[in-house]
Amino acid sequence: HRVVVVGAGHVGMITAMKLAEANIIEEVVLVDIADGLAAGIALDLTHSTALLGFDTKVRGVTRLADAGVADYVVITAGRARQPGMSRTDLVEVNAGIVGGLARDAAAVSPNTVLLIVTNPLDEMTHHAWQAAGLPAERVIGMAGVLDSSRFQALTGLATQSAPSDITALALGSHGDEMVIPLSQARVAGTSITQTLPQGAVTALVDRARNSGAEVVGLLKSGSAFFAPGASAARMVLAMATESDEVIAATVRARGQYGISDGYVGLPTKLGRGGLKEIVELPLAEDELAAVRTAAARISERVSVLEK
Ligand code: NAI
Repeated sequence: HRVVVVGAGHVGMITAMKLAEANIIEEVVLVDIADGLAAGIALDLTHSTALLGFDTKVRGVTRLADAGVADYVVITAGRARQPGMSRTDLVEVNAGIVGGLARDAAAVSPNTVLLIVTNPLDEMTHHAWQAAGLPAERVIGMAGVLDSSRFQALTGLATQSAPSDITALALGSHGDEMVIPLSQARVAGTSITQTLPQGAVTALVDRARNSGAEVVGLLKSGSAFFAPGASAARMVLAMATESDEVIAATVRARGQYGISDGYVGLPTKLGRGGLKEIVELPLAEDELAAVRTAAARISERVSVLEK
């Protein structure tokens, strides 16, 4: 497999690192318009191959056209949030960047899967799909893996259990309409609502929802990148290995969960061709309603973007 990671900034470089370290991808190519950045990061990563024992080739170029034909293109290029900014504040500048890159990626690699990371995530995923002209199964967004992982980590701390013992999925939008269905959340196999008092669970959900802003506030410049980069790599690896695990991803629903046609975060199985299946979980009525509301809000925001 060849994976092209566009944007060799904070998120892109961690994505490339995690992909290379997994040692199952033949080549990772970083692309960044900033002269020398992608090549520099690629060389630095290459220097760690002997140390860490992986064979993945890593290369850096300034133009997508020079990256070669890709099985997967991860788009992390664009502006990140600064303190006081919402993800939506990034929409205009990033739509220009992501739209152009999605078009170029589809032209170079007509059979590729596009994984969008750039914010605002829901809008950018829809926009990339439109610009690329690829089937919706092959244009997906990264948000739910990260948001689920944040909730799992925070719940692990709160319950003094290993994050790997926490199961939870973050659905809906990557923002205020994020939905973490508690009917599906478990701590070491027991329902989270039987493990923690209601108030504590609500606080964990709120903190997970605001984790991006919490990191931005601490960093004071730029936004989170370790967990986001690891999340993007995880999705690519799930596709490349046909892992069949249930993964939250921003995908285009076609009737599932009562959502007729639109991008929203849902439980999925991913494969070499992108979206394999939207997994229908037995959500509670209010959870289902919240996911549908998220889908409706994303559709509204997308229609504004297209005007
Ligand atoms: P960054 O500023 O460190 O890196 C962005 C890179 O994109 C820069 O190196 C820049 O030169 C490059 N770039 C800009 N236009 C380009 C173009 N046309 N072609 C190639 N490269 C181009 O930003 P960071 O922290 O890596 O964040 C990247 C994006 O990911 C932001 O929009 C951020 O909001 C988003 N993000 C999304 C997350 C999610 O859950 N979906 C989580 C974290 C970040």
